[in-house]
Amino acid sequence: MSLTRNEIIEILKSPVAYDGKSFSDTDNSLFTAATATARALFNNTVYQRGVIEFSSHCRKNCHYCGLRSSNTDLLRYRLTHVEIMDAVETAAAMGMGTIVLQAGEDEDVNPHFIYTIVRAIKEKFNLAVTLSLGDHPDDVYRLWRDSGADRYLLKIETTDTDLHSLYRPGQHLYDRLNRIESLQRLGYETGSGIIIGLPGMTEETLTDDLLLLSTMGLDMIACGPFIPHPQTPLRHAAPGKLLESLRVTALLRLLNPATNIPATSALDSLRTVRNNDGRILALNAGANVIMPSITPDEVRSSYSIYPGKNDPALSQNSTVKLLQSRVQQAGFTLSSQAGSSMQRTFRA
Ligand code: 5AD
Ligand code: SF4
Repeated sequence: MSLTRNEIIEILKSPVAYDGKSFSDTDNSLFTAATATARALFNNTVYQRGVIEFSSHCRKNCHYCGLRSSNTDLLRYRLTHVEIMDAVETAAAMGMGTIVLQAGEDEDVNPHFIYTIVRAIKEKFNLAVTLSLGDHPDDVYRLWRDSGADRYLLKIETTDTDLHSLYRPGQHLYDRLNRIESLQRLGYETGSGIIIGLPGMTEETLTDDLLLLSTMGLDMIACGPFIPHPQTPLRHAAPGKLLESLRVTALLRLLNPATNIPATSALDSLRTVRNNDGRILALNAGANVIMPSITPDEVRSSYSIYPGKNDPALSQNSTVKLLQSRVQQAGFTLSSQAGSSMQRTFRA
């Protein structure tokens, strides 16, 4: 479906009528159109990606993120090869069809360490592997692709060049976009996305984000709401809005029928969401993927990108089981398949 810039802005600016229980007629029709589009291709199937957050060290200092290098009030951990492989086994047993290896930009992780892990996963399990490891030189991306990694997730965060450089000190949108092109050239199924509701974003900049993301030929688009973290410069900023995040999910689905769109975990951390069912609302607005954390209990709450990410009160096992039963109760079918990009089939 094609939507003009003005039509998108109008949808994003339409009055917020959500009272925590029901949506306006306009929003309901938007979500219905988006789920119908998703259903036509994915048939109510929800793909499961198990995320293993294997290092909380990061050399970067993004203003929004709890892992930023200036945050001294955080336990920094790094999992060993054996610990990661144990988590992969757990993820496979829990029905995940994809493993996402995610970490901060940890300078003490040798690229060959990742190479060996991916090779080991590919030898032992029939699972797709996504890497979400930030900015690296092309030869490192090539090495990891040669190891058998299928996908790479690198979010642009915002297409507003000034905001991008403000919140990611020393970084430029232009470089991020170039990296995404390199990943696509190397044959990765490539994902990107933004944070919704960073201070300074407007409906207009958000619309430009959505339009750009929709022209990049992406295999996956992940957009989650901003959640302020107490140990960051944005600690006093307002969080992203639930309704805006759901509208973004629906608009992305309408603009990108075949792309994998996750119901992002950050949705469940918004205080406005009842019963932690933000991700279910996103599945009912056109998303088709969930990405639960499979990081071991001993360290998972230290992967504190934003508060509420990995609740220390709940074990990894019970969090995933709870999410899976909610998804099924909402009428979706959980799949243990890799859920590779349909976008590619479409493009071919
Ligand atoms: N709120 C929401 N998302 C965040 N991210 C980082 N910090 C926050 C936050 N405070 C997202 C970014 C990054 C990914 C690892 O987590 O999009 O790419
Ligand atoms: Fe590091 Fe990523 Fe957090 Fe930025 S968003 S500080 S690169 S983990």
